[in-house]
Amino acid sequence: MTDKLLRVRDIKKYFKLPSGKILKAVDGVSFNVYDNETVGIIGESGCGKSTLARIISGATEATDGEIYFKGEQIGKKRSRELCQSIHLVFQDSDGALNPRMSIYESLSEALSLLDMKEELQKDRIKKLLHSVGLEERYGLSFPEEISGGQRQRVAVARALAMHPKLLIADEPIASLDVSVQAQILNLLLDVKEKEKFSMIFIAHDLAVVRHISNRTIVMYKGVIVEEGPTEELFLHPGHDYTKILLASILYPDPERERNKKISCMENLQVSHEGVLREVSPGHWVRMKE
Ligand SMILES: Nc1ncnc2c1ncn2[C@@H]1O[C@H](COP(=O)(O)OP(=O)(O)O)[C@@H](O)[C@H]1O
Ligand SMILES: [Mg+2]
Repeated sequence: MTDKLLRVRDIKKYFKLPSGKILKAVDGVSFNVYDNETVGIIGESGCGKSTLARIISGATEATDGEIYFKGEQIGKKRSRELCQSIHLVFQDSDGALNPRMSIYESLSEALSLLDMKEELQKDRIKKLLHSVGLEERYGLSFPEEISGGQRQRVAVARALAMHPKLLIADEPIASLDVSVQAQILNLLLDVKEKEKFSMIFIAHDLAVVRHISNRTIVMYKGVIVEEGPTEELFLHPGHDYTKILLASILYPDPERERNKKISCMENLQVSHEGVLREVSPGHWVRMKE
């Protein structure tokens, strides 16, 4: 975990709403991703996580800001190599797979983008299916014939086909049954270990982020309110918003713990304003200037 793979600097994404109002979905986000590390991003729905993921993956353009990949600034038009290096696994893998293509054809399409000759593809697809825990026969299936967990495995296989340097997983397990979630999570950890890439892992399940991430970023209203080494951040949250988020997992039984929780929370004033200050090595908390 030494070199900076990705540097995101002051990224903004403003949407103009039909009413004419400007919605600041992402409002000045900066962070780094180092080689082989996993950065978790947490925060309530609508705080700008997916928009940020789409900007980094090139699926949408930022209103402002800069992104550097391996030290070089990414321009408006991305090279094919760069598109392969940064790969987004969508929240909804159902939408990512063409329903009219068999799993084999989907993977073959990805490999053709890499100019891999057809006679070499068969072996590679077999290996890809194997690496995500699917038997070769699943290649003949169509997306609707397999389960959500299996579709997500195919989505991971498609990503692996590209040999990504950075995999962005946007709530990759949110739509799955709880029993399958752990399998996909372990699969991601497993392939990451073998293939050596970095990962941005977006989730609203804090326990999952704690399990999988080296560093964690907390977003609130389009900005980063806290960032730090995962255990440090979970054990010593500095921002009131992080404290509220964490309290929601510390007290899983709402009936029994409601009073306790409210008394903990009532003095907290949540603001997304101020500047990020380093409170301990690598641990940054947004505070009033
Ligand atoms: N294409 C769009 N047009 C207008 N508003 C959008 C668009 N995409 C996202 N938003 C808004 O931007 C905010 C952030 O959305 P999103 O990035 O999806 O949040 P998250 O992934 O954290 O739930 C939300 O208020 C959402 O409604
Ligand atoms: Mg989202």
